[in-house]
Amino acid sequence: MSYRSISCASANSRGHLTIGGCDAVALAKRFGTPLHVIDEDAVRRACRSYVQEFGARYPHVRIVYAGKALMVKAIALLVMEEGLSLDVCSGGELYTAISAGCPADHIYFHGNSKTAAEIAFALSVGVFRFIADSLDELYLIDRLARSKSLVANVMLRLTPGIEAHTHDYIKTGQIDSKFGIVIPNGDALRAVGIAKGLANVRLTGLHCHIGSQVFEMEPFADAIDIMMNFARQAHEATGFVMEELNIGGGLGIRYHSKDDPITARDLAEAVAPALIDAASEYGLPLPSLLLEPGRSIVGEAGTTLYTVNAVKRIEGVRTYVSVDGGMADNPRVALYQAEYEAALANRMAVPGQEAVSVAGNCCESGDMLVWDVSMPRPEVGDTLAVFCTGAYNYSMASNYNRYPRPAVVLVRDGRADVIVERETYTDLVAHDLVPARLRHVSARPAAAGSAHLDSAGARSR
Ligand code: LLP
Repeated sequence: MSYRSISCASANSRGHLTIGGCDAVALAKRFGTPLHVIDEDAVRRACRSYVQEFGARYPHVRIVYAGKALMVKAIALLVMEEGLSLDVCSGGELYTAISAGCPADHIYFHGNSKTAAEIAFALSVGVFRFIADSLDELYLIDRLARSKSLVANVMLRLTPGIEAHTHDYIKTGQIDSKFGIVIPNGDALRAVGIAKGLANVRLTGLHCHIGSQVFEMEPFADAIDIMMNFARQAHEATGFVMEELNIGGGLGIRYHSKDDPITARDLAEAVAPALIDAASEYGLPLPSLLLEPGRSIVGEAGTTLYTVNAVKRIEGVRTYVSVDGGMADNPRVALYQAEYEAALANRMAVPGQEAVSVAGNCCESGDMLVWDVSMPRPEVGDTLAVFCTGAYNYSMASNYNRYPRPAVVLVRDGRADVIVERETYTDLVAHDLVPARLRHVSARPAAAGSAHLDSAGARSR
């Protein structure tokens, strides 16, 4: 059995995986493992395909990168350079974008449970749009904007009542969801009326997001029809004019050779005419069209490199290949039963000889990275690559088992730049405090004696 076809995998004359013109084995050696590697050109290509495909088919389009997929300063700046705006969903993501120097008038602020402090922060920096998820939030935005003598531009997030065929945890369009204001039961219409009556809120448009890792076009076209029909009703009932319609993100990617995702072009070909037709059917002016892709911008651009620490062959049962990372840097397998592909980065030219399963290093049986993948017989010290890890890996990473979070490097034309440094053991304990009554237990004075331990975290050879 040979390697499954990995869209982004290429190898050099040494049989080593290359990413962005860099030898992956050399990257692992230089920066240590686990290591998140992001291919800059792949991110740029994904941005451009959205901008071009939608730009060619619809008059007013804004592509808004959903930062939850991977929100670090360099990526925020990179997507902005490609002409995208930014969707942030917390004060922390907003702070990251602002501290990177992203202009606030390109930032959309999401979240179903924003605090007063987050809203006040967003008002003070002047975010372009709030995406209000509830009536409570709408009233809070109005009150805080009034206290600052501002008028906040707000879109309402609505739940159109659509079931996208994806994992239960990443479905969002159905009525029984924590997100958004429900259309079918009349809540959304009431919310538009209320928003129109608030003095310090200007309602600019409507938003919906049907789910994530979606492989079909029909739910997007259905969402457009429902949202446009709703905009017509809202116009009739309240005089509201929808300037902008945001149809969210959700385009799936090819994690595995069996995945067959639709492309930005397929989506544009379905969505643009559907919106134009719906506008004429419901007698509405064409709204600006906003999309919020996250995964499909950065997902396929990412590869995680690990070092093999142990190989356990249970004859007739399974071979476990244990690596130096796992659910702390990629919780998606444990959370959503996500399927990834993997290869030995230092032996790309050798055909697969053995079906193995890649195990993470956390103290959990469920911490597996890949089940049943074919590889040349793995050995301790091999560099193992897991593909398509650019989205929702680093951004969902934790310090479970007190593993430091990996470094992230951005590669292009044979050059690698660290865009997030690897955490150190010192970082891990930086916020730990010991009450005075426990200090006598300590064998040595706090802080002293730990400094020499702090090179750890990375496995560099
Ligand atoms: N807009 C909104 C309002 C969203 O909630 C999301 C994702 C997106 C855009 C971007 O969706 P994307 O294009 O990335 O599919 N942690 C999960 C995914 C959660 C997605 C949450 N919302 C995973 O790892 O699969």
